[in-house]
Amino acid sequence: MDRQAQIDFILDHYENPRHYGSLAQPAVVQKGGNPGCGDVVTFYLQVDGDERISAISFEGEGCTISQAASSIVTEMFTGKTLADVEATSSDVILDLLGREIAGTRLKCATLGLNATKDAVRQLRRIQANLE
Ligand code: FES
Repeated sequence: MDRQAQIDFILDHYENPRHYGSLAQPAVVQKGGNPGCGDVVTFYLQVDGDERISAISFEGEGCTISQAASSIVTEMFTGKTLADVEATSSDVILDLLGREIAGTRLKCATLGLNATKDAVRQLRRIQANLE
């Protein structure tokens, strides 16, 4: 994608966030925030018996990149496994957003991804306590 296409892609996700809102019966709810600016997100995950994410949604307030990246994260992980989330590095989200645009905004770009990773960690703890 060229720079303009990358900007359009980000703006589209910001203006029309995918999977926005809460889930009725989430297995886990995870808040994330960037203390530097006060921007926040909340992620909701539903998981099936095979550790596959059957639904993921988010709510949040913040800068264009953090909210667009959170929307992208929900698309990226719908139908994926918890292990897929654990294996995804911030490079993946930076490549999707475009390094030229997001490279200097690492905390914004990874806010949603890190909240999702924290959600999976929380879920693992809940599962471990049930065993
Ligand atoms: Fe706050 Fe981007 S400026 S997350």
